[in-house]
Amino acid sequence: MRSMDDVLDEELQALQAAGLRRTLRAVQQRQSGTVLIHGERIADFASNDYLGLATDARVARAASAVLQAEGTGAGAARLISGNYPIHETLERALARFKHCEHALLFPSGYMVNVGVIPALVGVGDVVYSDALNHASLIDGCRLSRATVRVFPHCDVNALSQMLEADNGRFRRALIVVEGMFSMDGDVFPLDRLVDVAEHFGAWTYVDDAHGTGVLGEGGAGAVVQFGVSQRVDVVVGTLGKALGTAGAWVAGSQTLIEFLTSCARSFVFTTATPPAMAAASLEALRLSHIESWRRVAVRARARRLRDRLRAAGREAGGADDAHIVPVLIGDPNRTMAVVAELRRRGFLVGGVRPPTVPPGTSRLRISLSAVHPPELVDSLAANLLDVLR
Ligand SMILES: Cc1ncc(COP(=O)(O)O)c(C=O)c1O
Repeated sequence: MRSMDDVLDEELQALQAAGLRRTLRAVQQRQSGTVLIHGERIADFASNDYLGLATDARVARAASAVLQAEGTGAGAARLISGNYPIHETLERALARFKHCEHALLFPSGYMVNVGVIPALVGVGDVVYSDALNHASLIDGCRLSRATVRVFPHCDVNALSQMLEADNGRFRRALIVVEGMFSMDGDVFPLDRLVDVAEHFGAWTYVDDAHGTGVLGEGGAGAVVQFGVSQRVDVVVGTLGKALGTAGAWVAGSQTLIEFLTSCARSFVFTTATPPAMAAASLEALRLSHIESWRRVAVRARARRLRDRLRAAGREAGGADDAHIVPVLIGDPNRTMAVVAELRRRGFLVGGVRPPTVPPGTSRLRISLSAVHPPELVDSLAANLLDVLR
């Protein structure tokens, strides 16, 4: 048999040729909308630090105080000896934030999705999954071993037809969507989703990793923006994006949370979030509430960028003020060449290729932050238009 390295090296060459090889780049320092890479300060339009809280000194101080008192690690899973009062305080705050009864904290959003979906559905059940759902949702669906039906992106009519055709064939039906979609910056019509789900008796699961902190009253996310928090069964939020820390949570009924505490394997069988990180998250949540200017600013920056691009005839997807701005390129190699040229000019933007997005839809993913000065956004737009010309 050929050695593992030989086989993998061949696969890496193939990825390279297709423009799909991924490599790491070390960020030496993050600071207020910029990153230091190889000693060079670059405007960061690639992170999910939408509110600019990831480097906020008050959040760091909150973590530091608990770090001094409790040390670095939780020491065990929550159900063993890793459950601290601060985890529970944070969960109560996160549930209130999402207008839900209760919440359960996980170490990451990926772990929420691969743990919660398989806890809720299995063989004999069906999951309806939006075509552009995040990889963690896709993996959660696959792990569940339920039948998976993929419906066209944000197409509630197509979803409704699938539910109609399947009616009565499966034990349980779960509809899984994102609130704001991570690579497209558009928002699922959640009001229509819950109408259809209730009509067919299906359960609903909304991962609002990207809407959380920005959309809806108080930044509570897309579910609150649509006024459906009492009608969605499972609401997911993440802490590592707009809230600038790390981790994620599920919110819903008391019964759902009690069930997941026993049955979500990625909760049961993993070490708890460090208490210091929970403290940081509580402080970030508090700041995101009281500093509403951050939400206003990030949306204004997004609108400004789209205005500049559209004025020059360049299409940029998503709603006018959505803080994720996709610019479609198509070919992965060309996408990465544009990313490299922008990087040379001092702007870091995401280059997104398959399998993150469907083949032929490679794109720039530009994400705005409340702490980007408006002139920096203008400068990015001018450079981008120049590079694409
Ligand atoms: C929609 C969605 N869900 C979940 C995740 C994973 O969250 P985390 O980074 O906390 O693992 C992401 C990450 O980008 C995401 O976009």
